[in-house]
Amino acid sequence: MHLSSVNHCIPLSDGNSIPIIGLGTYSEPASTPKGTCATSVKIAIDMGYRHIDGAYLYQNEHEVGEAIREKIAQGKVRREDIFYCGKLWATHLDPERVRPALERTLKNLQLDYVDLYIIEIPMALKPGDDFYPKDENGKWLYHKSNLCATWEVECHPYFTQPKLLKFCQKHDIVIVAYSPLGTCRDPSWVNVSAPPLLKDPFLNALGKKYNKTAAQIVLRFNIQRGVVVIPKSFNPERIKENFQIFDFSFTEEEMKDIEALNKNIRYVELLMWRDHPEYPFHDEY
Ligand code: A2P
Repeated sequence: MHLSSVNHCIPLSDGNSIPIIGLGTYSEPASTPKGTCATSVKIAIDMGYRHIDGAYLYQNEHEVGEAIREKIAQGKVRREDIFYCGKLWATHLDPERVRPALERTLKNLQLDYVDLYIIEIPMALKPGDDFYPKDENGKWLYHKSNLCATWEVECHPYFTQPKLLKFCQKHDIVIVAYSPLGTCRDPSWVNVSAPPLLKDPFLNALGKKYNKTAAQIVLRFNIQRGVVVIPKSFNPERIKENFQIFDFSFTEEEMKDIEALNKNIRYVELLMWRDHPEYPFHDEY
């Protein structure tokens, strides 16, 4: 598979295709200045990104839509050049809530369609407008659901998912790796006892060889094995850096060496929901 900065879509079984790198847009809503998301998406599109990963939960879909529409109006891209992935949040998993949730996303974006719509987490929470519902004692309010759903997969050199990847490749299923950089170090939802991926000595040494950063090394590793990556950054330099992964490639031996770094470390364990009946990470994959 030859991937380049202008041509890096990989085919899906239904005849559609997905750009192998997307811009992640999650940022803590309270501490992110208004407009940062829109600016970042515009920079990313100018840089060559064609895939934007967003969600209603992130509370910035209106900014993502504004940026995409502006770039279309400028003639930089057409709608069909952009791949937008939206997500159904846990409080909307009841079948009758799905369509209204999607329609709200489209209204926020002011676009006619999304390219992909996935279940954000496979554990239902009490339906309603509160994203994180709890009772008066602070106990999480879970909800029963009937899930036969696809599920995004954390994937990076400390969590390489060999078994899942093999299964998906056998069945022509494309994996999208969330947290491909090992995510941020927010202790409220990230397992910060795990060592930071981008500080890994081997990845940094390999970076020196190719004149690349550890972030570029881990992103290249995944795209070289056909896994879609959605690194989040609202920093213009890093948005650019994360896209500069098409001008080098690893030898087979280097791919194996990176694969050998696997520690089965999951940064996004969501331990606060580990007693949810549908908690997904008790299972092997
Ligand atoms: P920022 O938005 O300030 O760039 P993930 O995509 O694995 O969830 O990781 C996202 C986190 O990694 C964010 O905190 C983001 O911060 C940071 N990040 C994004 N790109 C890079 C990079 N090239 N080098 C170091 N950190 C990065």
